[in-house]
Amino acid sequence: MYSPKKEREGEIWAIGGGKGGTGKTFITSCMGTYLAQKENNVVLIDVDIGGANLHSFFGINRPGKSLTNFFENGSPLQELIVRTGIDNMQLITGDVDSLASDSIKFSQKLKLFRHIMKLNAQYVLIDLGGGSHNNTLDTFLMADKMIAVLVPEMIAVENMYHFIKNALFRKVRMSLRSYGFREIVEHVWERRKQYGVKNLRELIEWLRHSFSYIGDILDRELADFKIYLILNKVRGPDDILIGASMKSALLKFLGINIDFVGYIEYDDSVWRSIRNQQPFMLYYSSSRCTEEIEDFTENLIVGREIRLLRA
Ligand SMILES: Nc1ncnc2c1ncn2[C@@H]1O[C@H](COP(=O)(O)OP(=O)(O)OP(=O)(O)O)[C@@H](O)[C@H]1O
Ligand SMILES: [Mg+2]
Repeated sequence: MYSPKKEREGEIWAIGGGKGGTGKTFITSCMGTYLAQKENNVVLIDVDIGGANLHSFFGINRPGKSLTNFFENGSPLQELIVRTGIDNMQLITGDVDSLASDSIKFSQKLKLFRHIMKLNAQYVLIDLGGGSHNNTLDTFLMADKMIAVLVPEMIAVENMYHFIKNALFRKVRMSLRSYGFREIVEHVWERRKQYGVKNLRELIEWLRHSFSYIGDILDRELADFKIYLILNKVRGPDDILIGASMKSALLKFLGINIDFVGYIEYDDSVWRSIRNQQPFMLYYSSSRCTEEIEDFTENLIVGREIRLLRA
């Protein structure tokens, strides 16, 4: 279903995570700004159809064009690009008044992915909405780097766990389906007690061990299933440990090793910059948050984890 990653020159990063309000859009706008300041050619895409607001982080009130023109009139993505006011960075907006993203058809979605992959940019950053709808999961899965934003709250941890579990489940299902094993994942999962399977990690292990050719497919397809975690709105050292706990829970129950790339502390100047429509990285360039954002963006560029100092 998905085109092979890594055949293009640029990189596509998708920013998601399940829960609303964790700071996905804020972080997308900041990482984009930093990458653009480093002389990279950047395109931001707001696919939060129905709840699009990335444009307002750059002080743009109502962009005249949006993804709605792509879905409804077939306008090429290139024609929907608007300026952000920041050198080297452009934006394609979602639409506040438009259809909910779940009404976008499968074929439209694939067409959007094909067009995103053809955009001429070193970095394409995709801002996802909250929730675990299939359209959101598929957009997350098509990216070269899947970035999940978490806040240190119980409900956000649960939401993220479900989001990543659903993304992995969908990736496994869609991968096997494209090789003709359409029903096997559902079949075993629905009868998991009978098969002695307790969680998604054990399901994948069961599939690998039961059919070696399925094991080969999964090895190939899951090789680039790599998630990077950012923790936002951190208020103290204990909060940072939540990132590490998330990492071990995902390894234990899903069998995947995510990279915890960094965190941003809670800072009132964030909402102030949003309220005043002032791009944060420009107006608060010497703040601790800016430094933290630069650090984890660097970690993302090279695929490196944060180094946590143990007490
Ligand atoms: N580090 C931070 N410190 C303080 N407030 C923050 C921080 N990061 C984000 N916020 C606040 O959280 C709010 C939500 O941020 P944002 O819109 O980026 O979240 P989101 O994950 O994109 O939400 P949605 O799922 O609705 O799209 C913002 O209004 C901002 O004020
Ligand atoms: Mg958002």
